[in-house]
Formats: sequence, structure tokens, C-alpha cells
Amino acid sequence: NTKIVKMDPDNLDYDIIKEAAQIINNGGVVVFPTETVYGIGADALNDTAVEKIFKAKGRPQDNPLIVHIQDVEELYDLSREVPENAIILAEKFWPGPLTMILYKKDILSDKITAGLSTAAIRFPKNKIALALIKESGKPIAAPSANTSGKPSPTEASHVIEDLMGKVDMIIDGGSTYIGIESTVVDVTGDVPMILRPGGITREDISRVLGKCDYDPAIIKSNEKIVPKSPGQKYRHYSPKAKVILYKGTLDNIAQRIVEDYDKFTQDGLRVGIMSTVQTEKYYEDKTTICVGDRTKPISISSNLFKDLRNFDHMGMDVILAEAVEEEELGKAIMNRLGKAASETIIV
Ligand code: TXA
Ligand code: MG
Repeated sequence: NTKIVKMDPDNLDYDIIKEAAQIINNGGVVVFPTETVYGIGADALNDTAVEKIFKAKGRPQDNPLIVHIQDVEELYDLSREVPENAIILAEKFWPGPLTMILYKKDILSDKITAGLSTAAIRFPKNKIALALIKESGKPIAAPSANTSGKPSPTEASHVIEDLMGKVDMIIDGGSTYIGIESTVVDVTGDVPMILRPGGITREDISRVLGKCDYDPAIIKSNEKIVPKSPGQKYRHYSPKAKVILYKGTLDNIAQRIVEDYDKFTQDGLRVGIMSTVQTEKYYEDKTTICVGDRTKPISISSNLFKDLRNFDHMGMDVILAEAVEEEELGKAIMNRLGKAASETIIV
């Protein structure tokens, strides 16, 4: 009883958009594409509907949801205090892969915010997403449309894999563009603080506001600091295979990966290497998936979750993954790789 429909974001089918909006207004659940990853959406003002999201994903109740809007003015309906920094960031980066944390109004229930006094609000860029929010006339609560703990979905087939039979409709709008989730930035304080790195980078925000910090918990992930974003404390993005992440110079990384590949293979394990355009040459006779080009980080972010799932489809036991430079979008890629990995080896 999950209806699957295909739609071209540049050629909207308004009959389907109306049907999807009706489902939202009747308290149902619709999966739709955004420019980051697919979202599983319900009426943010209907607790019964929001509960269905948690149930379908198997999401812990203490992990709050992002509320999606399609007009900056809607910020004032949802937040009781919209600071200057939020207005500047909205003007510069919305619609886009940026989620802002602001003090919430009572209209948003504890179900959405997990009892916090703040809410996460985002104005996405995909035309299907925007049309659905507009047509339904409601803010739409939507976490990533994966089973909790799995890599976020970047195409409809991933959603079908995880949520078939658990949602009312899946709108297949093709592959998402950025491939990893939005940046979450807390704008309630004087200095904006990134709680989850994403498509809008610290450098982007600093250029506009002059300053921007990271939540200390996402820099020193080994230390016992509680992250300000509840979702960051969970292990995440995990394929079935064990992921090992290698950090160091490219030559050293490649050399160590080759050694470990041979060792694991001799132990009878199925091993896959997540390579890059720049390192393919080291792994000629080995099983690899080339995730992208290091000089174009967007090529890596857009393929990352898909490739982790593909290694699972290939029945791998171990995935050997290379670190990338932790600047701009690379910071977000490394955040996701770090969470997917059960072990990080510095060579
Ligand atoms: O790109 C995206 O952001 C996608 C698309 C569908 O919009 N959505 C998404 O949602 O990634 P989700 O639920 O997978 O991640 C939301 C993150 C979680 O880490 C959650 O803990 C955090 O935002 N969050 C939500 N409300 C918060 C709040 N009030 N304070 C701090 N963190 C919050
Ligand atoms: Mg998620």
C-alpha cells in the first residue's frame, strides 16, 4: 500500500502534487526528494502524523525532526525569536542545504523537538519538495527517509529498500544533488555554531557573518563531550559491512589499504575499497568503487551513501575507505565517513 510515482523536478505533475498534499493533510506520510537526501514527510502540526515518521524509521524518540518551509516568512510562524544572523543566512543560503536552530513557538510540539526549547527549520531547494509544502499549506516535518542508522537515501531505490509498505507515497524525483544532509547551524547565540557539517560550509557562513564555530563535540569525536544536536550522538550511516577509514598522506593511505586488502582477503573476507580518481591506480587488480574526484568534493558527497549501500549489495564484509581533506565540503564528508567507520587508522 505504498504508492510509488516518478516525477521530473523540472516538469511538475500537479495532479500528483495535489494527491501527495492531500495525504499530508489527512495525517499520512509522503517521501519526497530534496537537494540533499530524500525526506520522509508529515504535517509538522499533527502529532499523530509525526509519530508515524518515528515508527516507519525506527527513530529514537529523543531525536528531534527538521521542519521544512517554502517561504522565509514562515520562520516567524514557527520561531518566537528570529535573530539578525538568521535573517542574513536565510537571505544568502535559502533555499538550500542549511538548517537553522531557533527558539520555537508553542505551535511546534514536543514530538517534533524532542522536548527542546528550540526547533530545526529548513527551506529546501528541490522543486518537488517546495511544491508539496506549498500545496499542503503546512510546514512539513521530514527526517532523512532511511531506516534509522542506515546511510541516508539519495535515490528512490534506497527508500524502497528501507521503507516500502511503511509510508503512503514515495515520489521518485531522481538522484539528489548534494548527497549528504544539510548543515545544521545553531543561531540562538552570538556566534553561529555548526552542529552538523553539510553543504553550506563553515567557510561559507564565516564569509557572511564574520565568524562561525563548530560544536566542539563534532571536532573531537573521541572525547566525551555531549553533542548539541541529539542526532550526532548515534552511530550512523552504517552499511552492514564494517568500514575502516584511513587517514594520512595519499601514498601512505594507498599502501596501507593494499596491505590490509590482501590480509583480509587471505582471511577469507570479502573486501571492497572505496577509491578516488586520484588513487584508482594503486588498486588495479582489486575490487573497488571509485566514489569521486578529490578536486571536486561534490562528486564524492553525491556518491558516498549510494556507494556504501552498493558495497552491501555486493555482499562485502569490509569496506576500506580513504580520508579526504577536511576543509569546505570535505569536513561534512569526513563527518559521515567517521560515523560510518568502526575504526580509524592513521598511517
Ligand atoms: O538534508 C537534510 O537535512 C535532510 C532533508 C530531508 O531535509 N533531513 C535530515 O533530517 O537530515 P534528520 O532528521 O535525518 O537530521 C536532523 C538532525 C538530527 O541530527 C537532529 O538531532 C538535529 O537535526 N536537530 C533537530 N532539531 C534540533 C534541535 N532543536 N537542536 C539541535 N539539533 C536538532
Ligand atoms: Mg538522518
